[in-house]
Amino acid sequence: MPGQRRRAVGEPTPEDVPAEPPFLDLGQLEDDARAHLPADVFDYYAGGAESETTLAEAPEAWRSWRLRPRVLRGITSVPLSTDLLGTAVGSPIGVAPWAYQGMAHPDGELATARGAAAAGALMTVSTSATHTLEEVAAASAGSSAWFQLYRLHSTAHTEDLARRAGNAGYRALVLTVDLPLLGRRRRDLRSDFALPAGLRMANHPADGARPSLQDLATATWTFDDIARFGRLSGLPVVVKGVLRGDDAVRCVRAGAAAVWVSTHGGRQVDPAVASAHALPEVVDAVGGDVEVYADGGIRSGSDVLTALALGARAVFVGRPTIWGLTAGGADGVARVLDGFGEELAHTMALCGVDDVRSVPRDTVVPAR
Ligand code: FNR
Ligand code: LAC
Repeated sequence: MPGQRRRAVGEPTPEDVPAEPPFLDLGQLEDDARAHLPADVFDYYAGGAESETTLAEAPEAWRSWRLRPRVLRGITSVPLSTDLLGTAVGSPIGVAPWAYQGMAHPDGELATARGAAAAGALMTVSTSATHTLEEVAAASAGSSAWFQLYRLHSTAHTEDLARRAGNAGYRALVLTVDLPLLGRRRRDLRSDFALPAGLRMANHPADGARPSLQDLATATWTFDDIARFGRLSGLPVVVKGVLRGDDAVRCVRAGAAAVWVSTHGGRQVDPAVASAHALPEVVDAVGGDVEVYADGGIRSGSDVLTALALGARAVFVGRPTIWGLTAGGADGVARVLDGFGEELAHTMALCGVDDVRSVPRDTVVPAR
């Protein structure tokens, strides 16, 4: 910067300038979030179901693949823009839907929407948001978002949310199908976790009951709902939480526009097959017909590239955006998403791959 002088050796860093590493340090971000949040809130965000085997294995599973760089391709910079279900986005790295964002930051989902828009990334807004879906759509300010829908106890209310999502300008409806019952999360059972007083599940029926995630559990989706909720909302339907090729085929036959491979961040079935291992089977089954996405344990640009090589059209990140929102609100979310994008572009250039929409399958090979 012009006029800026070099600090003398031993001269202290000014305290008002936070010492940020010049790369995306997710471990540091998570430590900062842990220090900032009440213990039960941190545990709700960070935790998984049962023995947390799926949670622990998710990042390792992406790293069970190795990159096979192409040389002499003359590629030094890589544009990340792509399109998802026909909607233009700035990168193939989106924000996964996650509940209760008001616990991480006072502006909650509104800040995440602003951060995602700043990064040109697609946000998926959870049913269990602490702001209404209309408020979050408004905060997305011209940038595209998807709405994630849970099957609530009340069929009428569930249908109403689908119609509202269509009217509010969301570009797809994401039906999360891996939560017929809430997973047994031992950390939450121990802390008797509940949404703190003062926050509300803004999209849920205001029936005066203590807001609880248990409200999501016991009402289940069926294959027939895929076409029905597509009609109700007027939106393409993405089915989230598919881990098998045969299920993916049934979803597509039932009208799904896309399939999202996910273990719900290790919060439901445990131990479940990792997304990185389920993705190839799902891509083989339906990848020629519909877009396939993946999430779970994606923690670096090379993890993203691995997923794209295995046939994902896009990936979504959950916890990294939670830590970003906690640490820095909208800016924190944007920094995380930009950091992933920079790593992805850099790794692609090093690997001689220049199009996020067609990363050759043979860019990756099993580590052993
Ligand atoms: C989630 N996830 C989730 N999924 C969904 O469809 N609706 C939801 O409301 C939530 N809520 C939620 C809360 C929290 C705290 C977490 C961590 C996750 C699952 C989420 O969309 C995604 O599948 C995982 O978070 C992806 O894994 P990583 O990136 O967190 O490892
Ligand atoms: C969770 C629910 C809300 O994972 O999806 O906590």
